[in-house]
Amino acid sequence: MAHQYVLILDFGGQYNQLIARRVRECNVYCEVKPYKTSIEEIKKLNPTGIIFTGGPNSAYDENAPKVDPEIFNLGIPVLGLCYGCQLMAQTLGGNVKNADAKEFGKTETNFNTDSLLFKGLSDKGITWMSHNDFIDVLPEGFTSVAHTADCPVAAMENVEKKFYGMQYHPEVNHTENGTIMLKNFLYEVCGCVGDWNMENYAQTAINDIREKVKDGKVLLALSGGVDSSVAAALLSKAVGNQLTCIFVDHGLMRKNEGDEVEAAFADWDINFIRVNAGEQFLGKLAGVDDPETKRKIIGEEFIRVFEAEAKKIGAVDFLVQGTIYPDVIESGAGDAAVIKSHHNVGGLPDYVDFKEIIEPLRLLFKDEVRQLGIELGLSEKLVWRQPFPGPGLAIRIIGEITQEKIDILQDADYIFREEIALTGLDKDIHQYFAVLTSMRSVGVMGDGRTYDYTLALRGVTTTDFMTADFARIPYDLLAKISSRIVNEVKCINRIVYDVTTKPPSTIEWE
Ligand code: XMP
Repeated sequence: MAHQYVLILDFGGQYNQLIARRVRECNVYCEVKPYKTSIEEIKKLNPTGIIFTGGPNSAYDENAPKVDPEIFNLGIPVLGLCYGCQLMAQTLGGNVKNADAKEFGKTETNFNTDSLLFKGLSDKGITWMSHNDFIDVLPEGFTSVAHTADCPVAAMENVEKKFYGMQYHPEVNHTENGTIMLKNFLYEVCGCVGDWNMENYAQTAINDIREKVKDGKVLLALSGGVDSSVAAALLSKAVGNQLTCIFVDHGLMRKNEGDEVEAAFADWDINFIRVNAGEQFLGKLAGVDDPETKRKIIGEEFIRVFEAEAKKIGAVDFLVQGTIYPDVIESGAGDAAVIKSHHNVGGLPDYVDFKEIIEPLRLLFKDEVRQLGIELGLSEKLVWRQPFPGPGLAIRIIGEITQEKIDILQDADYIFREEIALTGLDKDIHQYFAVLTSMRSVGVMGDGRTYDYTLALRGVTTTDFMTADFARIPYDLLAKISSRIVNEVKCINRIVYDVTTKPPSTIEWE
């Protein structure tokens, strides 16, 4: 692809993806690679600049991840962040040691605004620090260009060699003007021109897909979510009706959603197959109330239905998966406890007769996937659709699932979403939905006693869905929603709002 390339070497820090996102936000293409990437490969990648990420180690530890010092002889600008900054100092002959005063969190910092890193910024600001060690001796040729009360080298530079380092994390929002500092490195030091945008990407991706697919047949599992929809749009632009999309409607979508997905693709020149498998799924789920069992049943059934449909088509050449870049970067560290077994359409290769997988979104972040969707002509509504779990409403109905409960929840959830959208709050609340609990309680309606379900409303704000806060929905709005739901939806006589954060809760209830 004809654009500049910035290489991010990953030393295991928790903000690695964030660095990559920020760089892309500056319209510069970048990729995250393991710190062990060989010099040969780096030369082949021909990066315009290199960024070392942070990491949990101490640069002076024998077993800490190191770089091949040869990297500093390539004539390529390097920016080290946190551990990456210390590693650069240590490798180039400076010294890093354990600090008496450790810094964590927002820290007042003084900047030398003559440095290109701080061009256009004021000489004081807040940075986000997170370190036990500090650089006590700079390598030859370096000067300190920022300091805090406890840290003499909060940033350093060797202008001649174009080596820079920041002890703090410019990539997190808590660092004021952090993105500008990164941009300064990219544009002022590396000479980046900002040639990464979705219009170019779409065209290049379409050409690449055409070249690869030629006259082959392509199969895609469409869930109606953002990723699979954008992948479908891209493939459809590239190879038109060589593409078949199978949309398995498991009957556990939000109200009207199955029809909306179908409608969204109605005018496209593709083969679109909708399988209405609601009854089949419901049959398998009858009598099951354990959340993990429900998830597994749905995952397996999904594969069966897809497989049966795919068999009718016969062998295909390519299977499309909607993998996006965060899935690629995530190191899959292994032994973490299974909190919930996620089901995503896409995990299907064993079951379908195909030759090769295409992952057209593999290099994109979610925001970029959305931009690409808009570029390809998908509606704002579809592209900004909030995340919806693969198992659908099955994990928002606590306990056993019945058609009646699905209907109740769909109606209640619809009202909740309608009211939130009316106030424009849907831009600020990242995910919101209703949950039908299995609890029934006594109420009074008119002059009569009721014994009906409790509905829970959940709304969260989050940047990464790994942690989340509950959204502060105004009481008056909650009152209106509550009143509408109990009046308009049968079998609900009590409504609660979920005020827990994640952790310790999760976003979904099951
Ligand atoms: P939790 O409930 O784990 O959810 O806090 C985090 C995010 O993941 C979504 N979620 C899923 N997405 N398949 C998906 O594709 C799943 O099985 C699944 N379960 C949860 C959830 O909606 C939230 O956005």
